[in-house]
Amino acid sequence: MKKKILVTGAAGFIGSNLANFFIKKKYEVWTIDNLSTGNLKNLNKSIIFINGDCSNKNTIKKLKNNKFKYIFHFAGQSSGEISFENPFNDFKSNVLSTIYLAEYALKNQCKKFFYASSMSVYGDTYLGTSKESDKCNPLSFYGIGKLTSENYLMKYRKKGLNPVILRFFNVYGPNQNFSNLKQGMISIYLAQILNSKKLFVKGSLNRFRDFIYIDDAIEAIYNLCQKNTKLYPIINIGTGKKTTIKQLIEIISKIINKDIKYKIISGTIDDQFGVYANTKILQNHYNFKAKTNLKLGIKKFIDWKINN
Ligand SMILES: NC(=O)c1ccc[n+]([C@@H]2O[C@H](COP(=O)([O-])OP(=O)(O)OC[C@H]3O[C@@H](n4cnc5c(N)ncnc54)[C@H](O)[C@@H]3O)[C@@H](O)[C@H]2O)c1
Repeated sequence: MKKKILVTGAAGFIGSNLANFFIKKKYEVWTIDNLSTGNLKNLNKSIIFINGDCSNKNTIKKLKNNKFKYIFHFAGQSSGEISFENPFNDFKSNVLSTIYLAEYALKNQCKKFFYASSMSVYGDTYLGTSKESDKCNPLSFYGIGKLTSENYLMKYRKKGLNPVILRFFNVYGPNQNFSNLKQGMISIYLAQILNSKKLFVKGSLNRFRDFIYIDDAIEAIYNLCQKNTKLYPIINIGTGKKTTIKQLIEIISKIINKDIKYKIISGTIDDQFGVYANTKILQNHYNFKAKTNLKLGIKKFIDWKINN
C-alpha cells in the first residue's frame, strides 16, 4: 500500500511543487486548497484534491481520519502587504488553520508535521543575517501570525506532535503566480519586466534578500523528511547568500540582455529592509546546501514562463 501524505495549499507555488514531487516518489498525495490564490492547473491529475478552507472544521472532516506519514501545512495567506489589508483573514488562514491541522495530526498519529513559516518572523536585525535561535521581532501581521503558529506547534510538541518549522526565505521558480504583484519579489519583478517593460522598485536598491530556487527548497524538505529533526525542529530554508535589489536587477538584465528601466517608489509599510539566512543548521546538522545559483535559477524560471 502506498504511503499517504497531506499537502495543504497545494494549488499554490511551493505546495504544488511539493505535491507533484511526492507523486513522482509514488506516495498517495492528499491535498487541500481554497483556491484563493492557487490554481488547479498546477497539480498533477493523480492527486486527491479537497476544495476547502483549512480554518473550517468541515474541510478537516473530509480527511476522514486518514493517517498521513507527513503533513505539510503550507496553505495560508502569503503576503505581508495583504496582512495589513485584512488581518482577520490573515489570522484565520495562517493561525487558526494551524491549530485545526495540529489537532488532526495528533489524533491521527502523523509522524512529522511540517509548517511553512517565514523569514518574516525575524523582522529587521542588526546584521541582516538571522539564525534560528535569534530573538524574533516580526514587523507585519503576517510575521506575527507565522510566529504565533510556530509557538502553538512548539507547545503541541509537549502533547506528542513532531513539528518541523521551515522558515522559508525568498523561494522562487515555476508555478509562482505572475498575476499576484503582492507576493514573491522575483516573480513580481519578472512579471513587470516581461509584461509591461517597466519596473517599480519599492524602497531602496540597497535592500537585500536571500533567494532560493524551488527545486533546492523541495530537496531540502525531502532531506528533512528522512532525518531526525527533534533536536533542531526550526530550520532556515535559504542559501545563506545576500543579494541586493540592485544586484538582482543587474542579473535579470544580463539574462534578458536588455537594460532595465526602473522607478523607485515608496516602500511597503513595515516590510523588512534586509534579511538573509544563517544556514549553519541546514548545512552542518542536516547536511544540505542549495545548488542552484541565482543566475541559473532565474534563467530556468524565465524559460518556464515563456513556455507556459
Ligand atoms: N514563497 C515564498 O518565498 C515564501 C516565503 C516564506 C513563507 N512562505 C509560506 O509558504 C507557504 C506557501 O507559499 P507560496 O509562495 O506557495 O504561496 P501561494 O499563495 O502560492 O500558496 C498558498 C496556497 O494556499 C491556499 N490557501 C490560502 N489560504 C488558505 C486556507 N485558509 N485554506 C486552504 N487553502 C488556502 C492558496 O489558494 C494557495 O494555493 C505559505 O504559507 C507562505 O506564507 C512562502
